[in-house]
Amino acid sequence: MPGLIPERFIDELLARVDIVDVVQRHVPLKRAGREWTARCPFHDERSPSFYVSPSKQFFHCFGCGAHGSAIKFLMDYEHLEFPDAVEELAQSVGLKVPREGGDQRPREDKTDLYALLDAAARFYQNELNKSDNARAYCEQRGLDAATIEHFRIGWAPAGWDGLKRVLGTNEYRLKLLEQAGMLSTAERGNKYDRFRERLMFPIMDRRGRVIAFGGRVLSSDQSPKYLNSPETPLFHKGRELFAFWQVRQANTKLERLIVVEGYMDAIALHQAGVTQAVATLGTATTHEHAELLFRAAPDVVFCFDGDRAGRSAAWRALESVLPRMRDGRQAFFLFLPEGEDPDTLVRSEGGAGFEARAAQALPLSEYFYSELSRDVNVATIDGRARLAEHAKPLLAKLPDGAFRDLMYAELEKRTGLNTGTTASTAPTRAPTRTPATNHTPRRTLVRSAIAMLLAEPSLASEAQTPYAFGALDKPGVPLLIELLDVARARPGINTAALLEHFAQREESAALQKLAMIEFPGEREALRAEFVDALRKLADQTVQQRLDALIRKQAKSSLDEIEKSELRELLARKAQPVSSAES
Ligand code: UTP
Ligand code: MN
Repeated sequence: MPGLIPERFIDELLARVDIVDVVQRHVPLKRAGREWTARCPFHDERSPSFYVSPSKQFFHCFGCGAHGSAIKFLMDYEHLEFPDAVEELAQSVGLKVPREGGDQRPREDKTDLYALLDAAARFYQNELNKSDNARAYCEQRGLDAATIEHFRIGWAPAGWDGLKRVLGTNEYRLKLLEQAGMLSTAERGNKYDRFRERLMFPIMDRRGRVIAFGGRVLSSDQSPKYLNSPETPLFHKGRELFAFWQVRQANTKLERLIVVEGYMDAIALHQAGVTQAVATLGTATTHEHAELLFRAAPDVVFCFDGDRAGRSAAWRALESVLPRMRDGRQAFFLFLPEGEDPDTLVRSEGGAGFEARAAQALPLSEYFYSELSRDVNVATIDGRARLAEHAKPLLAKLPDGAFRDLMYAELEKRTGLNTGTTASTAPTRAPTRTPATNHTPRRTLVRSAIAMLLAEPSLASEAQTPYAFGALDKPGVPLLIELLDVARARPGINTAALLEHFAQREESAALQKLAMIEFPGEREALRAEFVDALRKLADQTVQQRLDALIRKQAKSSLDEIEKSELRELLARKAQPVSSAES
Protein backbone atom coordinates (compact mmCIF):
# COMPACT_ATOMS: atom_id res chain seq x y z
CA MET A 1 0.00 0.00 0.00
CA PRO A 2 1.37 3.42 -0.82
CA GLY A 3 1.73 5.61 2.24
CA LEU A 4 -0.56 8.48 3.07
CA ILE A 5 0.01 11.83 1.48
CA PRO A 6 0.82 14.26 4.30
CA GLU A 7 -1.72 17.06 4.71
CA ARG A 8 1.08 19.56 4.80
CA PHE A 9 1.98 18.58 1.27
CA ILE A 10 -1.58 19.10 0.07
CA ASP A 11 -1.40 22.64 1.50
CA GLU A 12 1.91 23.29 -0.17
CA LEU A 13 0.64 21.93 -3.46
CA LEU A 14 -2.50 24.06 -3.37
CA ALA A 15 -0.39 27.08 -2.54
CA ARG A 16 1.89 26.36 -5.49
CA VAL A 17 -0.62 25.73 -8.27
CA ASP A 18 -2.98 28.32 -9.64
CA ILE A 19 -6.46 26.91 -10.09
CA VAL A 20 -7.06 29.30 -12.97
CA ASP A 21 -4.25 27.60 -14.92
CA VAL A 22 -5.44 24.16 -13.97
CA VAL A 23 -9.01 24.78 -15.09
CA GLN A 24 -7.91 26.77 -18.14
CA ARG A 25 -6.06 23.72 -19.44
CA HIS A 26 -9.40 21.98 -19.84
CA VAL A 27 -12.04 24.70 -20.02
CA PRO A 28 -11.65 28.08 -21.72
CA LEU A 29 -12.21 30.76 -19.08
CA LYS A 30 -13.31 34.34 -19.49
CA ARG A 31 -12.49 37.11 -17.12
CA ALA A 32 -15.40 38.43 -15.03
CA GLY A 33 -14.27 41.06 -12.58
CA ARG A 34 -12.06 39.48 -9.96
CA GLU A 35 -13.06 36.00 -11.08
CA TRP A 36 -13.05 33.81 -14.15
CA THR A 37 -16.09 32.20 -15.65
CA ALA A 38 -17.14 29.56 -18.18
CA ARG A 39 -20.00 27.28 -19.12
CA CYS A 40 -19.92 24.57 -16.50
CA PRO A 41 -18.08 21.43 -17.61
CA PHE A 42 -20.11 19.34 -15.16
CA HIS A 43 -23.59 20.01 -16.44
CA ASP A 44 -25.30 21.26 -19.58
CA GLU A 45 -25.96 24.94 -19.70
CA ARG A 46 -26.29 27.80 -22.15
CA SER A 47 -25.00 30.67 -20.09
CA PRO A 48 -22.00 30.46 -17.78
CA SER A 49 -22.59 29.87 -14.10
CA PHE A 50 -19.23 28.27 -13.42
CA TYR A 51 -16.82 30.55 -11.55
CA VAL A 52 -13.16 30.21 -10.64
CA SER A 53 -11.81 32.43 -7.89
CA PRO A 54 -8.07 33.18 -8.04
CA SER A 55 -8.05 34.67 -4.55
CA LYS A 56 -9.85 31.78 -2.88
CA GLN A 57 -8.38 29.23 -5.27
CA PHE A 58 -11.59 27.34 -5.76
CA PHE A 59 -14.26 26.80 -8.38
CA HIS A 60 -17.97 26.91 -7.91
CA CYS A 61 -20.94 26.32 -10.17
CA PHE A 62 -24.11 28.17 -9.25
CA GLY A 63 -26.03 25.88 -11.59
CA CYS A 64 -25.17 22.40 -10.35
CA GLY A 65 -23.37 23.16 -7.12
CA ALA A 66 -20.08 21.56 -8.18
CA HIS A 67 -17.24 23.11 -6.22
CA GLY A 68 -13.82 22.61 -4.75
CA SER A 69 -10.08 23.06 -5.03
CA ALA A 70 -7.80 22.41 -7.98
CA ILE A 71 -7.49 18.82 -6.75
CA LYS A 72 -11.23 18.41 -6.70
CA PHE A 73 -11.47 19.87 -10.18
CA LEU A 74 -9.11 17.24 -11.57
CA MET A 75 -10.92 14.49 -9.68
CA ASP A 76 -14.24 15.53 -11.16
CA TYR A 77 -13.06 16.50 -14.60
CA GLU A 78 -10.68 13.65 -15.27
CA HIS A 79 -12.50 11.17 -13.05
CA LEU A 80 -9.38 10.64 -10.95
CA GLU A 81 -9.08 9.33 -7.45
CA PHE A 82 -7.68 11.74 -4.89
CA PRO A 83 -4.07 10.39 -4.89
CA ASP A 84 -3.95 10.37 -8.68
CA ALA A 85 -5.21 13.93 -8.91
CA VAL A 86 -2.60 15.00 -6.37
CA GLU A 87 0.05 13.14 -8.33
CA GLU A 88 -0.92 14.81 -11.57
CA LEU A 89 -1.09 18.26 -10.06
CA ALA A 90 2.27 17.79 -8.35
CA GLN A 91 3.85 16.73 -11.60
CA SER A 92 2.55 19.83 -13.34
CA VAL A 93 4.49 22.05 -10.96
CA GLY A 94 7.51 19.78 -10.57
CA LEU A 95 6.82 18.60 -7.02
CA LYS A 96 7.31 15.06 -5.81
CA VAL A 97 4.59 13.56 -3.64
CA PRO A 98 5.99 12.44 -0.30
CA ARG A 99 4.40 9.52 1.53
CA GLU A 100 4.20 8.83 5.21
CA GLY A 101 3.59 5.44 6.85
CA GLY A 102 2.75 2.35 4.82
CA ASP A 103 4.97 1.65 1.88
CA GLN A 104 7.76 4.19 1.91
CA ARG A 105 8.82 3.54 -1.63
CA PRO A 106 7.74 6.24 -4.02
CA ARG A 107 5.03 5.33 -6.51
CA GLU A 108 7.51 5.45 -9.34
CA ASP A 109 8.73 2.06 -8.18
CA LYS A 110 5.77 0.59 -9.97
CA THR A 111 6.85 2.05 -13.28
CA ASP A 112 8.63 -1.15 -14.17
CA LEU A 113 5.53 -3.19 -13.47
CA TYR A 114 3.43 -0.96 -15.68
CA ALA A 115 6.01 -1.09 -18.42
CA LEU A 116 6.14 -4.86 -18.21
CA LEU A 117 2.38 -5.26 -18.43
CA ASP A 118 2.28 -2.90 -21.35
CA ALA A 119 4.91 -4.99 -23.09
CA ALA A 120 2.86 -8.09 -22.35
CA ALA A 121 -0.20 -6.50 -23.94
CA ARG A 122 1.85 -5.65 -27.00
CA PHE A 123 3.18 -9.19 -27.15
CA TYR A 124 -0.36 -10.60 -27.13
CA GLN A 125 -1.56 -8.08 -29.69
CA ASN A 126 1.24 -9.14 -31.94
CA GLU A 127 0.46 -12.81 -31.45
CA LEU A 128 -3.15 -12.21 -32.47
CA ASN A 129 -1.96 -11.15 -35.89
CA LYS A 130 -0.18 -14.47 -36.21
CA SER A 131 -3.03 -16.72 -35.14
CA ASP A 132 -5.61 -17.56 -37.80
CA ASN A 133 -7.74 -19.36 -35.26
CA ALA A 134 -7.92 -16.49 -32.85
CA ARG A 135 -8.62 -13.99 -35.61
CA ALA A 136 -11.38 -16.20 -36.93
CA TYR A 137 -12.89 -16.33 -33.47
CA CYS A 138 -12.84 -12.54 -33.23
CA GLU A 139 -14.57 -12.33 -36.55
CA GLN A 140 -17.18 -14.86 -35.52
CA ARG A 141 -17.89 -12.73 -32.45
CA GLY A 142 -18.27 -9.72 -34.64
CA LEU A 143 -15.29 -7.75 -33.38
CA ASP A 144 -14.06 -5.27 -35.95
CA ALA A 145 -10.45 -4.16 -36.40
CA ALA A 146 -10.95 -0.79 -34.74
CA THR A 147 -12.45 -2.40 -31.65
CA ILE A 148 -9.65 -4.95 -31.43
CA GLU A 149 -7.16 -2.11 -31.58
CA HIS A 150 -9.08 0.15 -29.17
CA PHE A 151 -9.38 -2.56 -26.53
CA ARG A 152 -5.93 -3.92 -27.30
CA ILE A 153 -7.32 -7.43 -27.65
CA GLY A 154 -4.62 -10.05 -28.10
CA TRP A 155 -3.82 -13.73 -28.13
CA ALA A 156 -1.81 -15.76 -25.64
CA PRO A 157 -0.18 -18.49 -27.69
CA ALA A 158 -0.06 -22.18 -26.82
CA GLY A 159 3.03 -23.51 -25.04
CA TRP A 160 4.27 -22.92 -21.55
CA ASP A 161 6.66 -20.05 -21.83
CA GLY A 162 5.87 -17.85 -24.81
CA LEU A 163 5.60 -14.74 -22.68
CA LYS A 164 8.19 -15.81 -20.14
CA ARG A 165 10.82 -16.29 -22.82
CA VAL A 166 10.24 -12.90 -24.39
CA LEU A 167 9.83 -10.78 -21.26
CA GLY A 168 11.46 -12.74 -18.43
CA THR A 169 14.98 -12.27 -19.73
CA ASN A 170 16.64 -11.77 -16.36
CA GLU A 171 15.99 -12.43 -12.70
CA TYR A 172 14.52 -9.01 -12.06
CA ARG A 173 12.13 -9.21 -14.96
CA LEU A 174 11.09 -12.72 -13.96
CA LYS A 175 10.28 -11.38 -10.54
CA LEU A 176 8.24 -8.59 -12.07
CA LEU A 177 6.34 -11.05 -14.28
CA GLU A 178 5.46 -13.01 -11.21
CA GLN A 179 4.47 -9.92 -9.23
CA ALA A 180 2.25 -8.89 -12.11
CA GLY A 181 0.45 -12.21 -11.91
CA MET A 182 1.57 -13.36 -15.33
CA LEU A 183 3.16 -16.63 -14.18
CA SER A 184 1.87 -19.75 -12.49
CA THR A 185 3.95 -22.06 -10.36
CA ALA A 186 4.08 -25.81 -10.97
CA GLU A 187 4.24 -28.29 -8.13
CA ARG A 188 7.98 -28.53 -8.31
CA GLY A 189 8.35 -24.80 -8.34
CA ASN A 190 8.74 -24.20 -12.05
CA LYS A 191 7.21 -21.02 -13.35
CA TYR A 192 5.23 -20.99 -16.55
CA ASP A 193 2.87 -18.69 -18.45
CA ARG A 194 -0.41 -18.24 -16.63
CA PHE A 195 -2.30 -17.41 -19.82
CA ARG A 196 -2.08 -19.92 -22.65
CA GLU A 197 -4.29 -20.32 -25.71
CA ARG A 198 -6.60 -17.55 -24.65
CA LEU A 199 -8.02 -14.45 -26.23
CA MET A 200 -6.60 -11.68 -24.07
CA PHE A 201 -8.43 -8.62 -22.78
CA PRO A 202 -6.14 -6.12 -21.05
CA ILE A 203 -7.69 -4.42 -18.04
CA MET A 204 -6.62 -0.81 -17.82
CA ASP A 205 -6.68 1.59 -14.95
CA ARG A 206 -8.22 5.04 -15.05
CA ARG A 207 -5.18 6.42 -16.76
CA GLY A 208 -5.10 3.83 -19.50
CA ARG A 209 -2.27 1.75 -18.10
CA VAL A 210 -2.52 -2.01 -18.36
CA ILE A 211 -2.80 -3.48 -14.88
CA ALA A 212 -4.18 -6.98 -15.47
CA PHE A 213 -5.72 -9.32 -18.03
CA GLY A 214 -8.71 -11.49 -18.60
CA GLY A 215 -8.31 -14.38 -21.01
CA ARG A 216 -11.06 -16.35 -22.76
CA VAL A 217 -10.79 -19.81 -24.22
CA LEU A 218 -11.94 -20.25 -27.79
CA SER A 219 -13.92 -23.42 -27.40
CA SER A 220 -16.55 -24.35 -24.89
CA ASP A 221 -14.88 -27.63 -23.89
CA GLN A 222 -12.02 -25.83 -22.17
CA SER A 223 -12.31 -24.30 -18.75
CA PRO A 224 -12.41 -22.01 -17.02
CA LYS A 225 -14.08 -19.95 -19.71
CA TYR A 226 -12.42 -16.80 -18.43
CA LEU A 227 -9.20 -16.67 -16.49
CA ASN A 228 -8.33 -13.39 -14.77
CA SER A 229 -5.14 -12.02 -13.30
CA PRO A 230 -4.90 -12.58 -9.57
CA GLU A 231 -4.83 -9.65 -7.16
CA THR A 232 -1.50 -7.88 -7.54
CA PRO A 233 0.01 -4.63 -6.28
CA LEU A 234 -1.57 -2.97 -9.31
CA PHE A 235 -4.83 -4.86 -9.56
CA HIS A 236 -7.65 -5.04 -7.04
CA LYS A 237 -10.69 -6.54 -8.69
CA GLY A 238 -13.18 -4.91 -6.39
CA ARG A 239 -11.85 -1.50 -7.34
CA GLU A 240 -11.48 -1.75 -11.07
CA LEU A 241 -13.94 -1.60 -13.89
CA PHE A 242 -13.23 -2.99 -17.29
CA ALA A 243 -13.54 -0.46 -20.16
CA PHE A 244 -13.61 2.55 -17.84
CA TRP A 245 -10.65 3.99 -19.69
CA GLN A 246 -12.39 3.57 -23.03
CA VAL A 247 -15.48 5.24 -21.59
CA ARG A 248 -13.43 8.21 -20.58
CA GLN A 249 -11.76 8.37 -23.96
CA ALA A 250 -15.11 8.47 -25.72
CA ASN A 251 -16.95 10.89 -23.44
CA THR A 252 -15.89 14.27 -22.14
CA LYS A 253 -19.02 14.69 -20.11
CA LEU A 254 -20.63 11.63 -18.61
CA GLU A 255 -24.29 11.77 -17.75
CA ARG A 256 -24.68 8.03 -17.40
CA LEU A 257 -22.76 4.81 -17.01
CA ILE A 258 -23.97 1.33 -17.86
CA VAL A 259 -22.64 -1.53 -15.81
CA VAL A 260 -22.62 -4.97 -17.41
CA GLU A 261 -21.21 -8.29 -16.31
CA GLY A 262 -18.92 -9.46 -19.08
CA TYR A 263 -15.90 -8.31 -21.03
CA MET A 264 -17.61 -9.09 -24.30
CA ASP A 265 -20.73 -7.25 -23.23
CA ALA A 266 -18.85 -4.03 -22.60
CA ILE A 267 -16.88 -4.35 -25.80
CA ALA A 268 -19.94 -5.11 -27.93
CA LEU A 269 -21.74 -2.10 -26.50
CA HIS A 270 -18.85 0.22 -27.27
CA GLN A 271 -18.64 -1.12 -30.80
CA ALA A 272 -22.36 -0.48 -31.21
CA GLY A 273 -21.90 3.12 -30.13
CA VAL A 274 -23.01 2.72 -26.52
CA THR A 275 -19.74 4.09 -25.22
CA GLN A 276 -20.69 4.43 -21.54
CA ALA A 277 -20.49 0.72 -20.76
CA VAL A 278 -18.17 -0.73 -18.14
CA ALA A 279 -17.96 -4.26 -16.76
CA THR A 280 -17.36 -5.52 -13.26
CA LEU A 281 -14.72 -8.19 -13.41
CA GLY A 282 -16.55 -11.39 -12.59
CA THR A 283 -17.29 -10.05 -9.10
CA ALA A 284 -20.32 -8.58 -7.46
CA THR A 285 -20.59 -4.81 -7.51
CA THR A 286 -18.70 -3.53 -4.47
CA HIS A 287 -19.13 -0.35 -2.43
CA GLU A 288 -15.94 0.85 -4.03
CA HIS A 289 -17.34 0.25 -7.49
CA ALA A 290 -20.47 2.15 -6.53
CA GLU A 291 -18.50 5.15 -5.34
CA LEU A 292 -16.30 5.08 -8.41
CA LEU A 293 -19.29 4.88 -10.73
CA PHE A 294 -21.16 7.74 -9.11
CA ARG A 295 -18.11 9.91 -8.99
CA ALA A 296 -17.90 9.55 -12.73
CA ALA A 297 -21.58 10.01 -13.59
CA PRO A 298 -24.79 10.97 -11.79
CA ASP A 299 -26.83 8.17 -13.36
CA VAL A 300 -25.78 4.54 -13.26
CA VAL A 301 -27.69 1.77 -15.02
CA PHE A 302 -26.99 -1.73 -13.71
CA CYS A 303 -27.68 -4.36 -16.29
CA PHE A 304 -28.42 -7.99 -15.46
CA ASP A 305 -29.66 -11.19 -16.99
CA GLY A 306 -33.28 -11.85 -16.25
CA ASP A 307 -32.57 -15.26 -14.73
CA ARG A 308 -32.37 -16.09 -11.07
CA ALA A 309 -28.59 -15.52 -10.88
CA GLY A 310 -29.05 -12.14 -12.49
CA ARG A 311 -31.77 -11.21 -10.01
CA SER A 312 -29.66 -12.07 -7.05
CA ALA A 313 -26.66 -10.22 -8.48
CA ALA A 314 -28.90 -7.20 -9.00
CA TRP A 315 -30.05 -7.24 -5.40
CA ARG A 316 -26.48 -7.43 -4.19
CA ALA A 317 -25.63 -4.48 -6.41
CA LEU A 318 -28.54 -2.57 -4.91
CA GLU A 319 -27.26 -3.26 -1.43
CA SER A 320 -23.84 -1.90 -2.28
CA VAL A 321 -25.18 1.28 -3.82
CA LEU A 322 -27.63 2.17 -1.05
CA PRO A 323 -25.05 3.87 1.20
CA ARG A 324 -23.81 5.84 -1.82
CA MET A 325 -27.18 7.22 -2.89
CA ARG A 326 -26.54 10.84 -2.11
CA ASP A 327 -28.95 13.36 -3.59
CA GLY A 328 -28.33 13.93 -7.25
CA ARG A 329 -27.36 10.33 -7.88
CA GLN A 330 -29.72 7.89 -9.54
CA ALA A 331 -29.40 4.15 -9.92
CA PHE A 332 -31.41 2.12 -12.43
CA PHE A 333 -31.82 -1.60 -12.91
CA LEU A 334 -32.18 -3.15 -16.31
CA PHE A 335 -33.18 -6.78 -16.67
CA LEU A 336 -32.64 -8.49 -19.99
CA PRO A 337 -34.79 -11.33 -21.36
CA GLU A 338 -33.62 -14.75 -20.24
CA GLY A 339 -30.87 -16.22 -22.31
CA GLU A 340 -29.73 -12.84 -23.56
CA ASP A 341 -26.81 -10.70 -22.55
CA PRO A 342 -25.89 -7.21 -23.77
CA ASP A 343 -23.58 -8.73 -26.37
CA THR A 344 -26.27 -10.90 -27.95
CA LEU A 345 -28.88 -8.15 -27.66
CA VAL A 346 -26.75 -5.61 -29.40
CA ARG A 347 -26.19 -8.08 -32.17
CA SER A 348 -29.89 -8.65 -32.68
CA GLU A 349 -31.26 -5.20 -31.84
CA GLY A 350 -28.33 -2.88 -32.39
CA GLY A 351 -27.09 -0.10 -30.16
CA ALA A 352 -30.38 1.76 -30.55
CA GLY A 353 -32.34 -1.27 -29.38
CA PHE A 354 -30.22 -1.49 -26.31
CA GLU A 355 -30.58 2.23 -25.64
CA ALA A 356 -34.33 1.88 -25.83
CA ARG A 357 -34.24 -0.86 -23.21
CA ALA A 358 -31.88 1.17 -21.01
CA ALA A 359 -34.33 4.05 -21.13
CA GLN A 360 -36.94 1.71 -19.64
CA ALA A 361 -34.74 0.57 -16.77
CA LEU A 362 -36.34 0.50 -13.32
CA PRO A 363 -35.39 3.31 -10.95
CA LEU A 364 -33.88 2.01 -7.72
CA SER A 365 -36.96 2.96 -5.72
CA GLU A 366 -39.28 0.92 -7.93
CA TYR A 367 -37.02 -2.06 -8.09
CA PHE A 368 -36.48 -1.89 -4.33
CA TYR A 369 -40.15 -1.96 -3.42
CA SER A 370 -41.26 -4.37 -6.11
CA GLU A 371 -38.56 -6.83 -5.10
CA LEU A 372 -39.39 -6.53 -1.39
CA SER A 373 -43.11 -6.89 -2.10
CA ARG A 374 -42.53 -10.01 -4.18
CA ASP A 375 -43.17 -12.64 -1.55
CA VAL A 376 -45.37 -10.70 0.82
CA ASN A 377 -49.05 -10.05 0.56
CA VAL A 378 -49.34 -6.32 1.09
CA ALA A 379 -53.11 -6.66 1.24
CA THR A 380 -52.70 -8.02 4.76
CA ILE A 381 -51.45 -6.31 7.89
CA ASP A 382 -48.91 -9.07 8.45
CA GLY A 383 -47.62 -8.64 4.95
CA ARG A 384 -47.20 -4.92 5.33
CA ALA A 385 -45.42 -5.41 8.64
CA ARG A 386 -43.07 -7.86 6.95
CA LEU A 387 -42.40 -5.38 4.18
CA ALA A 388 -41.58 -2.65 6.69
CA GLU A 389 -39.38 -5.01 8.66
CA HIS A 390 -37.36 -5.87 5.56
CA ALA A 391 -37.19 -2.35 4.23
CA LYS A 392 -36.15 -0.49 7.36
CA PRO A 393 -32.62 -1.82 7.88
CA LEU A 394 -31.92 -1.23 4.21
CA LEU A 395 -33.33 2.30 4.17
CA ALA A 396 -31.23 3.05 7.22
CA LYS A 397 -28.18 2.68 5.00
CA LEU A 398 -29.20 5.61 2.82
CA PRO A 399 -27.29 8.82 3.42
CA ASP A 400 -29.28 11.82 4.65
CA GLY A 401 -31.07 13.76 2.01
CA ALA A 402 -34.22 14.17 0.01
CA PHE A 403 -33.91 10.74 -1.59
CA ARG A 404 -33.84 9.06 1.79
CA ASP A 405 -36.90 11.02 2.91
CA LEU A 406 -38.77 10.06 -0.24
CA MET A 407 -37.90 6.40 0.19
CA TYR A 408 -39.27 6.47 3.74
CA ALA A 409 -42.34 8.31 2.55
CA GLU A 410 -42.89 5.58 -0.01
CA LEU A 411 -42.65 2.95 2.72
CA GLU A 412 -45.26 4.80 4.73
CA LYS A 413 -47.49 4.97 1.70
CA ARG A 414 -47.15 1.27 1.07
CA THR A 415 -47.53 0.12 4.66
CA GLY A 416 -49.53 2.86 6.31
CA LEU A 417 -46.89 2.83 9.03
CA ASN A 418 -45.47 5.98 10.48
CA THR A 419 -41.72 5.48 10.35
CA GLY A 420 -41.12 8.67 12.28
CA THR A 421 -38.58 9.76 9.75
CA THR A 422 -40.45 11.88 7.30
CA ALA A 423 -41.85 14.83 9.15
CA SER A 424 -40.25 16.75 11.98
CA THR A 425 -37.14 14.64 12.38
CA ALA A 426 -36.22 14.94 8.72
CA PRO A 427 -32.48 15.54 8.52
CA THR A 428 -31.14 18.73 7.07
CA ARG A 429 -31.08 18.50 3.35
CA ALA A 430 -28.16 19.41 1.22
CA PRO A 431 -29.11 18.49 -2.32
CA THR A 432 -25.96 18.66 -4.38
CA ARG A 433 -27.61 19.47 -7.64
CA THR A 434 -29.90 22.33 -6.86
CA PRO A 435 -28.84 25.91 -7.37
CA ALA A 436 -27.04 27.27 -4.36
CA THR A 437 -27.72 30.89 -5.19
CA ASN A 438 -31.08 31.60 -3.70
CA HIS A 439 -30.40 30.90 -0.09
CA THR A 440 -27.74 32.38 2.11
CA PRO A 441 -27.35 30.75 5.49
CA ARG A 442 -28.50 32.79 8.46
CA ARG A 443 -25.60 34.92 9.58
CA THR A 444 -25.01 34.18 13.24
CA LEU A 445 -21.92 35.59 14.81
CA VAL A 446 -20.13 32.24 14.68
CA ARG A 447 -21.08 31.83 11.05
CA SER A 448 -19.82 35.29 10.20
CA ALA A 449 -16.53 34.62 11.93
CA ILE A 450 -16.12 31.37 9.99
CA ALA A 451 -17.04 33.07 6.73
CA MET A 452 -14.48 35.82 7.32
CA LEU A 453 -11.82 33.30 8.23
CA LEU A 454 -12.53 31.31 5.09
CA ALA A 455 -12.37 34.44 2.96
CA GLU A 456 -9.06 35.44 4.52
CA PRO A 457 -7.37 32.57 6.41
CA SER A 458 -4.53 34.85 7.55
CA LEU A 459 -7.01 36.40 9.98
CA ALA A 460 -6.35 33.37 12.18
CA SER A 461 -3.28 35.14 13.50
CA GLU A 462 -5.64 37.56 15.26
CA ALA A 463 -6.79 34.85 17.65
CA GLN A 464 -4.68 33.92 20.66
CA THR A 465 -4.79 30.60 22.44
CA PRO A 466 -6.39 29.61 24.66
CA TYR A 467 -9.29 31.04 22.70
CA ALA A 468 -11.33 33.34 24.91
CA PHE A 469 -14.51 31.92 23.41
CA GLY A 470 -13.32 28.30 23.60
CA ALA A 471 -15.92 27.32 26.20
CA LEU A 472 -18.84 28.98 24.40
CA ASP A 473 -21.65 26.50 23.97
CA LYS A 474 -23.01 27.41 20.56
CA PRO A 475 -23.30 25.53 17.28
CA GLY A 476 -20.26 26.01 15.08
CA VAL A 477 -17.84 26.98 17.83
CA PRO A 478 -15.88 23.71 17.75
CA LEU A 479 -15.65 24.05 13.98
CA LEU A 480 -14.41 27.63 14.24
CA ILE A 481 -11.76 26.45 16.67
CA GLU A 482 -10.67 23.68 14.33
CA LEU A 483 -10.45 26.11 11.44
CA LEU A 484 -8.40 28.52 13.50
CA ASP A 485 -6.07 25.72 14.57
CA VAL A 486 -5.46 24.58 11.02
CA ALA A 487 -4.98 28.10 9.68
CA ARG A 488 -2.66 29.10 12.53
CA ALA A 489 -0.56 25.97 12.07
CA ARG A 490 -0.17 26.73 8.38
CA PRO A 491 0.46 30.41 7.81
CA GLY A 492 -0.18 31.39 4.21
CA ILE A 493 -2.81 28.70 3.62
CA ASN A 494 -5.44 29.73 1.09
CA THR A 495 -9.20 29.22 1.13
CA ALA A 496 -9.24 26.12 -1.05
CA ALA A 497 -6.50 24.43 0.94
CA LEU A 498 -8.28 25.22 4.18
CA LEU A 499 -11.51 23.74 2.82
CA GLU A 500 -9.64 20.70 1.57
CA HIS A 501 -8.82 19.82 5.18
CA PHE A 502 -12.53 19.39 5.79
CA ALA A 503 -13.41 17.74 2.47
CA GLN A 504 -14.29 14.41 4.04
CA ARG A 505 -16.38 15.92 6.79
CA GLU A 506 -20.10 16.35 6.89
CA GLU A 507 -19.62 20.07 7.53
CA SER A 508 -17.88 20.35 4.17
CA ALA A 509 -20.92 21.54 2.21
CA ALA A 510 -21.80 24.15 4.81
CA LEU A 511 -18.23 25.43 4.85
CA GLN A 512 -18.24 25.63 1.08
CA LYS A 513 -21.36 27.81 1.20
CA LEU A 514 -19.80 30.12 3.75
CA ALA A 515 -16.67 30.32 1.64
CA MET A 516 -18.77 31.75 -1.17
CA ILE A 517 -19.57 34.85 0.80
CA GLU A 518 -17.72 37.87 -0.50
CA PHE A 519 -16.33 40.60 1.75
CA PRO A 520 -15.73 43.52 -0.52
CA GLY A 521 -13.66 46.39 0.71
CA GLU A 522 -10.37 46.82 2.47
CA ARG A 523 -8.51 43.97 4.13
CA GLU A 524 -8.06 46.16 7.20
CA ALA A 525 -11.78 46.64 7.59
CA LEU A 526 -12.29 42.90 7.42
CA ARG A 527 -9.57 42.37 10.00
CA ALA A 528 -11.27 44.81 12.36
CA GLU A 529 -14.62 43.16 11.81
CA PHE A 530 -13.12 39.75 12.56
CA VAL A 531 -11.43 40.93 15.74
CA ASP A 532 -14.72 42.47 16.77
CA ALA A 533 -16.58 39.23 16.14
CA LEU A 534 -14.11 37.28 18.25
CA ARG A 535 -14.45 39.80 21.05
CA LYS A 536 -18.22 39.53 20.95
CA LEU A 537 -17.92 35.77 21.12
CA ALA A 538 -15.65 36.13 24.14
CA ASP A 539 -18.22 38.39 25.77
CA GLN A 540 -20.94 35.86 25.09
CA THR A 541 -18.77 33.19 26.69
CA VAL A 542 -18.48 35.25 29.84
CA GLN A 543 -22.19 35.97 29.83
CA GLN A 544 -23.05 32.30 29.31
CA ARG A 545 -20.91 31.25 32.25
CA LEU A 546 -22.28 34.05 34.37
CA ASP A 547 -25.85 33.01 33.63
CA ALA A 548 -25.05 29.43 34.52
CA LEU A 549 -23.50 30.39 37.84
CA ILE A 550 -26.36 32.70 38.70
CA ARG A 551 -28.89 30.01 37.82
CA LYS A 552 -27.05 27.56 39.98
CA GLN A 553 -26.85 29.99 42.85
CA ALA A 554 -30.61 30.47 42.69
CA LYS A 555 -31.30 26.74 42.63
CA SER A 556 -28.75 25.34 45.05
CA SER A 557 -25.60 27.04 46.12
CA LEU A 558 -22.11 27.70 44.84
CA ASP A 559 -18.90 26.32 46.26
CA GLU A 560 -16.00 28.60 47.12
CA ILE A 561 -14.28 28.29 43.76
CA GLU A 562 -17.50 29.05 41.91
CA LYS A 563 -18.18 32.01 44.14
CA SER A 564 -14.82 33.56 43.40
CA GLU A 565 -15.29 32.83 39.72
CA LEU A 566 -18.62 34.63 39.84
CA ARG A 567 -17.08 37.64 41.53
CA GLU A 568 -14.32 37.77 38.97
CA LEU A 569 -16.73 37.51 36.06
CA LEU A 570 -18.94 40.25 37.44
CA ALA A 571 -15.93 42.47 37.90
CA ARG A 572 -14.78 41.75 34.35
CA LYS A 573 -18.18 42.66 32.96
CA ALA A 574 -18.13 45.95 34.80
CA GLN A 575 -14.96 46.96 32.99
CA PRO A 576 -15.11 48.97 29.76
CA VAL A 577 -15.41 46.95 26.54
CA SER A 578 -11.90 47.70 25.29
CA SER A 579 -10.22 45.56 27.93
CA ALA A 580 -12.85 42.83 28.00
CA GLU A 581 -10.86 40.66 25.62
CA SER A 582 -7.57 39.16 26.61
P1 UTP B 1 -20.44 -15.13 -18.69
O1 UTP B 1 -20.26 -16.57 -18.48
O2 UTP B 1 -21.82 -14.54 -18.63
O3 UTP B 1 -19.79 -14.90 -20.06
O4 UTP B 1 -19.50 -14.38 -17.66
P2 UTP B 1 -19.96 -13.76 -21.13
O5 UTP B 1 -19.48 -12.47 -20.60
O6 UTP B 1 -21.29 -13.78 -21.74
O7 UTP B 1 -18.84 -14.21 -22.13
P3 UTP B 1 -18.99 -14.74 -23.57
O8 UTP B 1 -20.01 -13.89 -24.24
O9 UTP B 1 -19.39 -16.17 -23.47
O10 UTP B 1 -17.63 -14.57 -24.09
C1 UTP B 1 -19.61 -13.02 -17.36
C2 UTP B 1 -18.31 -12.53 -16.80
O11 UTP B 1 -17.97 -13.27 -15.64
C3 UTP B 1 -16.57 -13.46 -15.55
C4 UTP B 1 -15.98 -12.73 -16.73
O12 UTP B 1 -15.63 -11.40 -16.35
C5 UTP B 1 -17.12 -12.73 -17.71
O13 UTP B 1 -16.99 -11.71 -18.69
N1 UTP B 1 -16.20 -14.89 -15.62
C6 UTP B 1 -17.00 -15.79 -16.24
C7 UTP B 1 -15.03 -15.30 -15.08
O14 UTP B 1 -14.28 -14.51 -14.50
N2 UTP B 1 -14.66 -16.62 -15.16
C8 UTP B 1 -15.43 -17.53 -15.81
O15 UTP B 1 -15.06 -18.70 -15.88
C9 UTP B 1 -16.65 -17.10 -16.34
MN1 MN C 1 -21.86 -13.35 -23.60
